[in-house]
Amino acid sequence: MIGVFDSGFGGLTILGNLQKALPRHNFLYLGDNARAPYGSRSYETIFRYTLQAVRELFLRGCPLVILACNTASAKALRSIQQQILPVEFPDRRVLGIVRPTAEEIGGYSQTGHIGIFGTAGTVSSGSYPIEIKHFFPDLVVTQHACPMWVPLVEYGESGSEGARYFVKKEVDSLLAEDPEIDTILLACTHYPLLEKEIRAALPNHVRLVFQGDIVAQKTVDYLRRHPEMEVRLSKGESLGKTHYLTSDTAEFFKKGAFLFGIQDISAESITF
Ligand code: DGL
Repeated sequence: MIGVFDSGFGGLTILGNLQKALPRHNFLYLGDNARAPYGSRSYETIFRYTLQAVRELFLRGCPLVILACNTASAKALRSIQQQILPVEFPDRRVLGIVRPTAEEIGGYSQTGHIGIFGTAGTVSSGSYPIEIKHFFPDLVVTQHACPMWVPLVEYGESGSEGARYFVKKEVDSLLAEDPEIDTILLACTHYPLLEKEIRAALPNHVRLVFQGDIVAQKTVDYLRRHPEMEVRLSKGESLGKTHYLTSDTAEFFKKGAFLFGIQDISAESITF
């Protein structure tokens, strides 16, 4: 199984693209719903929570885990890759979603000015500007934190008057900061659920970029380049299955997943 982790439901927006791109692979999704959102938590806390989740996914048989959460990718990935894996799990891999997105994002812009919406944690980590610089040194990157957006999504407020208000407020302030922006990256896996509100607040010429497709294509590439990992993932008996784990109750997960367009999920409730 490929492990897919998010602080809550947001990773489901990435999982959908992964399932389409890798229809014969099995997935194990873990949402740390009981402790979401991660967005405004400290580095230490995000690292600790993410590591617990990764260990859980390893224990349950995933040789490869994708952190389908920008906040966890920005704040915990590097430490897990550099400090934990070589010592404790030398044959396992953890991939994030910041770098694969950074590798592509410059190709979308004509003006060379892009905007990034993310959680406070992702923005303050500086991960996107740092990674993007390696691939597109001349790209002008303006980040903007949207602390209200994840709670709005998690509490089922997409489509409400309140969501429209908070989305427009952040879109206006990003574009006021750099009016030449022609491309905006949704660097939080929850934000696709606010797509309607975001599009309504944006001028027509500004392009929205979602991560799902990018991450799925990069994962396919990764497996092509790492046949030793592909072999380990392909050994399961049943193909194309997804099992869901949540740190909250199964009922809570089922209701929330419904908001993300997934019906009748029966998740397993776990404690770390
Ligand atoms: N979905 C996560 C991300 O992509 C963050 C949500 C949260 O704040 O927990 O950043």
